[in-house]
Amino acid sequence: MMSDLETIITSRRTIRKPKNDPIDLANIYDILEKAAYAPYHSRVEPWSVTIASTREEHRYFLKCVFESYERNHILASYSEERIKQIKEAYKEVILNTPVSLIVATDVFQDDKKDLESICATSTFIQNIQLLAWERNIGAVWRTSPAIFDDQFREAFFIPETKRIIGSVHLGYVEPENIPEPKPRRPLHEWVKPVIETIKT
Ligand SMILES: Cc1cc2nc3c(=O)[nH]c(=O)nc-3n(C[C@H](O)[C@H](O)[C@H](O)COP(=O)(O)O)c2cc1C
Repeated sequence: MMSDLETIITSRRTIRKPKNDPIDLANIYDILEKAAYAPYHSRVEPWSVTIASTREEHRYFLKCVFESYERNHILASYSEERIKQIKEAYKEVILNTPVSLIVATDVFQDDKKDLESICATSTFIQNIQLLAWERNIGAVWRTSPAIFDDQFREAFFIPETKRIIGSVHLGYVEPENIPEPKPRRPLHEWVKPVIETIKT
Protein backbone atom coordinates (compact mmCIF):
# COMPACT_ATOMS: atom_id res chain seq x y z
CA MET A 1 0.00 0.00 0.00
CA MET A 2 1.26 3.46 -0.84
CA SER A 3 1.84 6.12 1.81
CA ASP A 4 0.07 9.49 1.43
CA LEU A 5 3.32 11.03 0.18
CA GLU A 6 3.85 8.26 -2.38
CA THR A 7 0.27 8.68 -3.62
CA ILE A 8 0.67 12.45 -3.99
CA ILE A 9 3.98 12.13 -5.84
CA THR A 10 2.80 9.43 -8.23
CA SER A 11 -0.74 10.70 -8.86
CA ARG A 12 0.21 14.35 -9.51
CA ARG A 13 -0.25 15.38 -13.12
CA THR A 14 0.46 18.63 -14.88
CA ILE A 15 -2.90 20.38 -15.20
CA ARG A 16 -3.17 22.64 -18.24
CA LYS A 17 -6.95 23.11 -18.13
CA PRO A 18 -8.01 23.89 -14.57
CA LYS A 19 -11.39 25.16 -13.41
CA ASN A 20 -11.49 28.94 -13.35
CA ASP A 21 -13.04 29.07 -9.87
CA PRO A 22 -11.05 31.50 -7.71
CA ILE A 23 -8.54 30.20 -5.18
CA ASP A 24 -8.38 31.90 -1.79
CA LEU A 25 -5.01 33.66 -1.71
CA ALA A 26 -4.57 32.59 1.92
CA ASN A 27 -4.42 29.03 0.57
CA ILE A 28 -1.69 30.02 -1.91
CA TYR A 29 0.33 31.85 0.77
CA ASP A 30 0.05 28.79 3.01
CA ILE A 31 1.32 26.55 0.18
CA LEU A 32 4.24 28.93 -0.46
CA GLU A 33 5.17 29.10 3.20
CA LYS A 34 5.34 25.31 3.42
CA ALA A 35 7.02 24.87 0.01
CA ALA A 36 9.80 27.11 1.33
CA TYR A 37 10.98 24.18 3.49
CA ALA A 38 12.72 23.05 0.29
CA PRO A 39 16.46 22.47 0.66
CA TYR A 40 18.82 25.29 -0.33
CA HIS A 41 22.57 25.78 -0.19
CA SER A 42 22.99 29.57 -0.33
CA ARG A 43 23.15 32.03 2.55
CA VAL A 44 19.43 32.73 2.24
CA GLU A 45 16.71 30.95 0.31
CA PRO A 46 17.28 31.89 -3.35
CA TRP A 47 13.65 31.94 -4.57
CA SER A 48 11.17 34.78 -4.95
CA VAL A 49 7.60 34.72 -6.21
CA THR A 50 5.45 37.35 -7.93
CA ILE A 51 1.74 36.52 -7.86
CA ALA A 52 -0.90 37.37 -10.46
CA SER A 53 -4.39 36.58 -9.18
CA THR A 54 -6.64 39.45 -10.26
CA ARG A 55 -7.99 40.07 -13.79
CA GLU A 56 -5.86 43.23 -13.98
CA GLU A 57 -2.69 41.36 -12.95
CA HIS A 58 -3.34 38.59 -15.45
CA ARG A 59 -3.97 41.13 -18.22
CA TYR A 60 -0.65 42.79 -17.34
CA PHE A 61 1.11 39.40 -17.36
CA LEU A 62 -0.37 38.63 -20.78
CA LYS A 63 0.60 42.07 -22.17
CA CYS A 64 4.20 41.55 -20.95
CA VAL A 65 4.37 38.09 -22.57
CA PHE A 66 3.08 39.44 -25.92
CA GLU A 67 5.43 42.45 -25.81
CA SER A 68 8.35 40.14 -25.07
CA TYR A 69 7.41 37.83 -27.96
CA GLU A 70 7.16 40.86 -30.24
CA ARG A 71 10.56 42.25 -29.16
CA ASN A 72 12.26 38.90 -29.56
CA HIS A 73 10.46 37.85 -32.75
CA ILE A 74 9.29 34.64 -31.08
CA LEU A 75 6.32 34.20 -33.42
CA ALA A 76 8.01 35.70 -36.47
CA SER A 77 7.99 32.47 -38.49
CA TYR A 78 4.20 32.07 -38.20
CA SER A 79 1.52 33.46 -40.51
CA GLU A 80 -0.67 36.35 -39.34
CA GLU A 81 -3.57 33.92 -39.01
CA ARG A 82 -1.56 31.48 -36.88
CA ILE A 83 -0.25 34.32 -34.64
CA LYS A 84 -3.83 35.41 -34.06
CA GLN A 85 -4.80 31.86 -33.07
CA ILE A 86 -1.79 31.49 -30.75
CA LYS A 87 -2.54 34.84 -29.06
CA GLU A 88 -6.19 33.88 -28.59
CA ALA A 89 -5.13 30.55 -27.04
CA TYR A 90 -2.71 32.30 -24.66
CA LYS A 91 -5.39 34.82 -23.73
CA GLU A 92 -7.85 32.03 -23.00
CA VAL A 93 -5.34 30.12 -20.85
CA ILE A 94 -3.86 33.03 -18.91
CA LEU A 95 -7.03 34.97 -18.24
CA ASN A 96 -8.85 31.82 -17.12
CA THR A 97 -6.12 30.69 -14.75
CA PRO A 98 -6.97 31.74 -11.19
CA VAL A 99 -3.39 32.18 -9.96
CA SER A 100 -0.07 32.52 -11.80
CA LEU A 101 3.27 32.63 -10.03
CA ILE A 102 6.44 34.01 -11.57
CA VAL A 103 9.28 32.24 -9.84
CA ALA A 104 12.77 33.72 -9.83
CA THR A 105 16.03 32.59 -8.29
CA ASP A 106 19.25 34.32 -7.26
CA VAL A 107 22.07 34.65 -9.79
CA PHE A 108 25.62 34.68 -8.41
CA GLN A 109 27.63 34.65 -11.67
CA ASP A 110 29.33 31.52 -10.33
CA ASP A 111 28.71 28.09 -11.91
CA LYS A 112 28.39 26.14 -8.68
CA LYS A 113 26.27 28.70 -6.86
CA ASP A 114 24.04 29.26 -9.90
CA LEU A 115 23.48 25.51 -10.26
CA GLU A 116 22.63 25.25 -6.56
CA SER A 117 20.28 28.22 -6.84
CA ILE A 118 18.31 26.74 -9.76
CA CYS A 119 18.27 23.29 -8.13
CA ALA A 120 16.95 24.69 -4.83
CA THR A 121 14.25 26.76 -6.52
CA SER A 122 13.24 23.77 -8.65
CA THR A 123 12.69 21.70 -5.50
CA PHE A 124 10.68 24.64 -4.12
CA ILE A 125 8.50 24.61 -7.27
CA GLN A 126 7.95 20.86 -6.99
CA ASN A 127 6.94 21.35 -3.33
CA ILE A 128 4.36 23.91 -4.55
CA GLN A 129 3.04 21.41 -7.10
CA LEU A 130 2.77 18.58 -4.56
CA LEU A 131 1.20 20.70 -1.79
CA ALA A 132 -1.27 22.14 -4.32
CA TRP A 133 -2.14 18.65 -5.61
CA GLU A 134 -2.93 17.52 -2.07
CA ARG A 135 -5.48 20.40 -1.96
CA ASN A 136 -7.02 19.45 -5.32
CA ILE A 137 -5.26 22.37 -7.01
CA GLY A 138 -3.53 21.53 -10.27
CA ALA A 139 -0.41 23.22 -11.56
CA VAL A 140 1.48 23.65 -14.79
CA TRP A 141 5.12 24.72 -14.57
CA ARG A 142 5.90 26.70 -17.73
CA THR A 143 9.15 27.95 -19.23
CA SER A 144 7.91 30.45 -21.79
CA PRO A 145 10.53 32.17 -23.99
CA ALA A 146 9.59 35.42 -22.19
CA ILE A 147 11.40 34.28 -19.03
CA PHE A 148 14.76 34.74 -20.81
CA ASP A 149 13.97 38.37 -21.63
CA ASP A 150 15.48 41.00 -19.29
CA GLN A 151 12.77 43.52 -20.13
CA PHE A 152 10.11 40.97 -19.17
CA ARG A 153 11.89 40.46 -15.83
CA GLU A 154 12.13 44.22 -15.30
CA ALA A 155 8.42 44.63 -16.02
CA PHE A 156 7.84 42.80 -12.71
CA PHE A 157 10.60 44.71 -10.86
CA ILE A 158 12.63 41.55 -10.46
CA PRO A 159 16.24 42.77 -10.04
CA GLU A 160 19.06 41.71 -12.33
CA THR A 161 20.55 39.74 -9.43
CA LYS A 162 17.77 37.24 -10.13
CA ARG A 163 16.55 35.28 -13.13
CA ILE A 164 13.08 33.94 -13.76
CA ILE A 165 13.15 30.15 -13.97
CA GLY A 166 9.50 29.54 -14.68
CA SER A 167 5.90 30.41 -14.13
CA VAL A 168 3.50 28.15 -12.26
CA HIS A 169 -0.18 28.39 -13.13
CA LEU A 170 -2.64 27.09 -10.56
CA GLY A 171 -6.33 26.23 -10.57
CA TYR A 172 -8.70 23.69 -9.05
CA VAL A 173 -8.60 20.34 -10.80
CA GLU A 174 -11.36 19.49 -13.28
CA PRO A 175 -11.43 15.66 -13.01
CA GLU A 176 -12.09 15.14 -16.74
CA ASN A 177 -9.09 17.32 -17.59
CA ILE A 178 -6.55 15.23 -15.69
CA PRO A 179 -4.23 13.87 -18.38
CA GLU A 180 -3.14 10.26 -18.53
CA PRO A 181 0.18 9.78 -16.74
CA LYS A 182 3.21 9.92 -18.96
CA PRO A 183 4.76 6.49 -18.49
CA ARG A 184 8.07 6.65 -16.67
CA ARG A 185 11.06 4.67 -17.93
CA PRO A 186 11.74 1.44 -16.05
CA LEU A 187 14.50 1.70 -13.45
CA HIS A 188 16.88 -0.62 -15.28
CA GLU A 189 17.10 1.89 -18.16
CA TRP A 190 18.54 4.65 -16.00
CA VAL A 191 20.03 3.13 -12.86
CA LYS A 192 23.18 1.09 -12.75
CA PRO A 193 25.69 0.05 -10.15
CA VAL A 194 29.21 1.45 -10.44
CA ILE A 195 30.57 -2.03 -11.17
CA GLU A 196 28.77 -2.04 -14.55
CA THR A 197 30.37 1.24 -15.55
CA ILE A 198 33.78 -0.17 -14.72
CA LYS A 199 33.18 -3.26 -16.88
CA THR A 200 31.91 -1.38 -19.97
C1 LIG B 1 11.37 22.75 -16.10
C2 LIG B 1 10.01 22.42 -16.66
C3 LIG B 1 9.48 23.22 -17.65
C4 LIG B 1 8.20 22.95 -18.17
N1 LIG B 1 7.68 23.77 -19.12
C5 LIG B 1 6.45 23.53 -19.60
C6 LIG B 1 5.88 24.43 -20.54
O1 LIG B 1 6.48 25.44 -20.93
N2 LIG B 1 4.64 24.16 -21.00
C7 LIG B 1 3.93 23.06 -20.56
O2 LIG B 1 2.81 22.86 -21.02
N3 LIG B 1 4.45 22.20 -19.66
C8 LIG B 1 5.68 22.41 -19.15
N4 LIG B 1 6.21 21.58 -18.20
C9 LIG B 1 5.41 20.42 -17.70
C10 LIG B 1 5.88 19.13 -18.35
O3 LIG B 1 5.50 19.11 -19.71
C11 LIG B 1 5.28 17.95 -17.57
O4 LIG B 1 5.79 17.95 -16.26
C12 LIG B 1 5.64 16.62 -18.26
O5 LIG B 1 4.94 16.50 -19.47
C13 LIG B 1 5.31 15.40 -17.39
O6 LIG B 1 3.93 15.40 -17.05
P1 LIG B 1 3.45 15.34 -15.53
O7 LIG B 1 3.93 16.61 -14.86
O8 LIG B 1 1.94 15.28 -15.62
O9 LIG B 1 4.03 14.13 -14.90
C14 LIG B 1 7.46 21.82 -17.67
C15 LIG B 1 8.02 21.02 -16.66
C16 LIG B 1 9.29 21.32 -16.15
C17 LIG B 1 9.86 20.45 -15.05
